[in-house]
Amino acid sequence: MLIREQVPLAPLTTLGVGGPARFFIEAGTQDEVVEAVGFAHARQLPLFVLGGGSNLVVADNGFPGVVLKVGIVDVLLLTAANGEVIFDAGAGVDWDAFVAETIEAECAGLECLSGIPGTVGGTPVQNVGAYGQEVAETIREVRALDLRSLESKTLSNAECQFSYRSSLFNTTERGRGRYIILRVSFALRQGGRPGLRYAELQEVFANDSVEPTLAEVRAAVLEIRRRKGMLIVPGEDDSRSAGSFFKNPIVPMPVFTELAARMEAHGWQLPSYPLGEGFRKLPAAWLVELAGFPRGYSKGAAGISRRHALAIINRGGATAADIMALKENIQARVKDEFEIELQPEPVFVGF
Ligand code: EPU
Repeated sequence: MLIREQVPLAPLTTLGVGGPARFFIEAGTQDEVVEAVGFAHARQLPLFVLGGGSNLVVADNGFPGVVLKVGIVDVLLLTAANGEVIFDAGAGVDWDAFVAETIEAECAGLECLSGIPGTVGGTPVQNVGAYGQEVAETIREVRALDLRSLESKTLSNAECQFSYRSSLFNTTERGRGRYIILRVSFALRQGGRPGLRYAELQEVFANDSVEPTLAEVRAAVLEIRRRKGMLIVPGEDDSRSAGSFFKNPIVPMPVFTELAARMEAHGWQLPSYPLGEGFRKLPAAWLVELAGFPRGYSKGAAGISRRHALAIINRGGATAADIMALKENIQARVKDEFEIELQPEPVFVGF
C-alpha cells in the first residue's frame, strides 16, 4: 500500500479546484482499506473517501487528513432466477464503463444512467439518478466497511434508505461517515425493456414503430447529456463542473400554490413536477436563471454553464473560493426572490 503526501486533489475532480491531500492512499483490496483506516486512526487524522471526484468541491487549503481512494475494480456476474442478472462491482470501477458492460450483456436497468462521471462506489451515496432512472431501483446490496466495528457488512436495498439524492450514506442522522463502500451489486433484467420515462428521451423515439434497444437508449442519453454540457468533454469549460450544483427543491403544496400565484402575477408560469402526495418538485435551474444567473453567466473564472443553469463551472483557473462565492450569491438571490433555500448537491471537502 503506497502512502503519498501532499497530493494535489484538483486534478482528481471534474470541477478542478482545491488544494492537496495531506496523505493519499489508494487501496486495492478490503484489507488495504482497513490498513488505510488504521493509518488515519493511529495519527488521529480525518478520513475522506474519494470516488471519481465528479461531485466534489475541494477547499483551496486542501484536506488536512487522509484521502482514501478505493481501487477495487473487479466485476462479478451472477445469474439469478427469472431472468435477473446480478452484477457485483467493486467500488472503484468506472461507472460509465460498467453501464456499457451491462448493456453489452443486454441487461436493462442502468441504460438511462449512461455518461455519468464517477465510480460505482459513489452511486449509492447520493442515489444517483438521471433521465427517469435512479440506482435505488436496481441496487440489490451494498457491501461496506463499518468504521465502528472495522468489519464489512452487507446492507440490503431497504437498509440503504434511498430517497431523492439521499441515502444512509450521506445523511448525518442516519450514518454519514460510518461506512466505506467496497462493492455494489445490481439486479438487472436480462433482455428487459429500456426505461423511457423522461419526456426528452421519449421524444427522441416518438416516431419509431419499434421499441429502441438498450444501446439506442444509451446513445440517446449520451447525446442529451452532451447537449446539456453534462458529459465530460476534455478541454470544454462547460463540462468543468460538479454536475448539478443544487438539488431540485421539494416544497409542500401550499408553498407551491402561493409561489406559482406570485409568479403568475409577473407573467411567469412556474414549472413543477408531482412528487408524492402533497409535494411538488421545482426545477432549480429555472429558479437560478430567473434570480439573475442565466446560462453563460460569469463572475471572474467561475460561472454558469452555457448549456445548463444548474452547473456552476470553472472557466479555467478558478479557486474554490470563487466557486463558493458564486454558490452563496446564487443561494442568497434565490432566497430573496422566491423564499426558497437551495440545498447544494455536491460534497464539500476541507471546508
Ligand atoms: N431548466 C432551466 N434552465 C436550464 C436547464 C433547465 O430553466 O438551463 C429547467 C427547465 O424547466 C427544465 C427543468 O429545468 O425542464 C429540468 O431540467 P433537466 O431536465 O435538465 O433536469 P434537472 O432537474 O436540472 C436533474 C438532475 C440531473 C439529471 C437530470 C436528468 C438534480 C439535482 N439534477 O437535473 O442530475 O441528469 O435531472 O434527469 O436532480 C446531478 O445530479 O449532478 C445531475 C446532473
